[in-house]
Amino acid sequence: MTILEAKGLSRRFGGLQALVDVTFSVAKGEIVGVIGPNGAGKTTLFSTLVGLVRPNTGSVTLDGKNLSGLKPHKVASLGMTKTFQNVALFAESTVLENVLTAGLLHHGVEAARSEALKCLDRVGLKAVAQEQAGDLSFPERARVELARALCTGPKVLLLDEVMAALNPAEMSEIMRLIRSLRDDGVTLLVVEHHMRAIMNICDRIIVLNFGRLLADGTPAQIVGDPKVIEAYLGHPKEAVRR
Ligand SMILES: Nc1ncnc2c1ncn2[C@@H]1O[C@H](COP(=O)(O)OP(=O)(O)OP(=O)(O)O)[C@@H](O)[C@H]1O
Ligand SMILES: [Mg+2]
Repeated sequence: MTILEAKGLSRRFGGLQALVDVTFSVAKGEIVGVIGPNGAGKTTLFSTLVGLVRPNTGSVTLDGKNLSGLKPHKVASLGMTKTFQNVALFAESTVLENVLTAGLLHHGVEAARSEALKCLDRVGLKAVAQEQAGDLSFPERARVELARALCTGPKVLLLDEVMAALNPAEMSEIMRLIRSLRDDGVTLLVVEHHMRAIMNICDRIIVLNFGRLLADGTPAQIVGDPKVIEAYLGHPKEAVRR
């Protein structure tokens, strides 16, 4: 069953065409990787899906509902949210408070608090719930961001480089979490430059290049695709990261 459909999405920033006629669909329960070189349009795609950026053309449908013109909080309440590549927490507030605010989308304060604690537990941060968010390390802040997204109770969760700057053990932890979320029925789209992680967790991968959909296939199809190797995987930086 299709849960998310993007049709003909285009977005221009001044003279720069950040997305060009991007069309794809995602089945419920799938884990879909989104890869491509820096500046390819991955974050813009996620922002467009959740209503933070308006497309110049095209449409997004979530669970059969057209999202055109809806604000991000409305899209979140319908079940789709994204994490931010540049995590911005309320540094002066506690970790719990940072996550709790997301829970207010569906709950009163007390229920949001208990939901937030569950989400923090799920990302392994329950022990620091009462600490100030500003005191956390960078990888911990990325996990708070993940907990915050989880606390909106998403059907479709978009993760934008949540594994950046994590060590291998922390990455395995997040990969386990992504799989367990899928087992709970969440559909995931994952932007990540760590190819090993992407190949490991994704059922399918879409590749963006200069805002265009370059390829859409299984991990095996993508690693063997000469177009993808030329545009992205053959790049020396990515070769090192693999
Ligand atoms: N709000 C904006 N205003 C102007 N240009 C933008 C804006 N957002 C993105 N861009 C440009 O659009 C292009 C796509 O950017 P985007 O952030 O989507 O790339 P990305 O694939 O996420 O890259 P990275 O891997 O570095 O995160 C880039 O050239 C970027 O500079
Ligand atoms: Mg990005």
